[in-house]
Amino acid sequence: MREFAEPLLSEHTTIRLGGPALAKIVIEKVEDLEELQGRLAYWGGQPFWLGKGSNLLAHDGFLPHVLVQMGNCGISIVGIENGKTIVRAEAGAPLARLLNFCLKNGLSGLEGLAGIPGSVGGAAAMNAGSFGSETTAHIHSAILWSAAGAKRYGRDEISGSYRKTRFGNDDAGIITEIFFALTPLPNNVIFTRMCHNFFAKKSRQPLTAWSAGCAFKNPPGISAGLLLDQAGFKGKELGGMAFSRKHANFLVNTGGGSSSAACDLLALAREKVRAATGHELELEIRILK
Ligand code: EPU
Repeated sequence: MREFAEPLLSEHTTIRLGGPALAKIVIEKVEDLEELQGRLAYWGGQPFWLGKGSNLLAHDGFLPHVLVQMGNCGISIVGIENGKTIVRAEAGAPLARLLNFCLKNGLSGLEGLAGIPGSVGGAAAMNAGSFGSETTAHIHSAILWSAAGAKRYGRDEISGSYRKTRFGNDDAGIITEIFFALTPLPNNVIFTRMCHNFFAKKSRQPLTAWSAGCAFKNPPGISAGLLLDQAGFKGKELGGMAFSRKHANFLVNTGGGSSSAACDLLALAREKVRAATGHELELEIRILK
């Protein structure tokens, strides 16, 4: 376990915003979890389960939280079940590393996730998805640590729905390991699918900008990006924050942005879209304050 005082959220989020938290605890091995309750009590703040900060908007001022991050990132094949290969990924592993592992080992299922940033644990907790593919659809089981101890959940108990699982709320605890059930396929087929999805994503989304991915969830049957675009928010700037010119649902920090400007712009967009279309946009990005 490693511990740091006053980590800056602006250095732990892909949108590069946010003030200092109380502390950060990095869990390096499963045994570290035995000490976690005691260390949280020592630092004295609310725990916040942090992945790689790619879906997170943290407020500018002091944040009374202890960030807990999984630092372990092993990936291995652990068995075969009903013709599927079971892959175990530690929650801190970057999603890109898991996809690379799948490519090398000829394992299909997660190709649609190519180009999504973040950790495997974060992707599992929020059911990250793209191009008709969702993370939880390929999960066999996952282990969650909470104050009550570690517990393994089967795929059905994880309750994956659009950008949501039972693990995605602040009280749930932290995912430590995820087991995926994947289908053997030739490497070149997987490579072609991953490339196709990655370049489709890159052509439509500002992948290298400082952003937290899509700001709002899509309302049923319609794209939030389309609604924002039609309401005039594509490229709209406020206080160093802007909705991307490439895709209107990506809120980007153009360099001198702040979380308060981000929240103002998000509120303005929701209000305008509601007034123009009646659609109530729900945030996809998590807010930490
Ligand atoms: N559109 C516009 N203007 C825009 C953006 C989109 O008119 O500025 C239109 C497009 O032309 C298209 C439609 O809206 O007709 C849908 O756009 P797109 O294919 O880009 O998909 P999306 O619904 O905006 C969703 C996910 C993305 C995911 C893509 C690809 C959400 C909120 N967004 O975007 O996920 O990568 O599909 O599958 O579910 C994320 O969740 O962070 C995310 C980026």
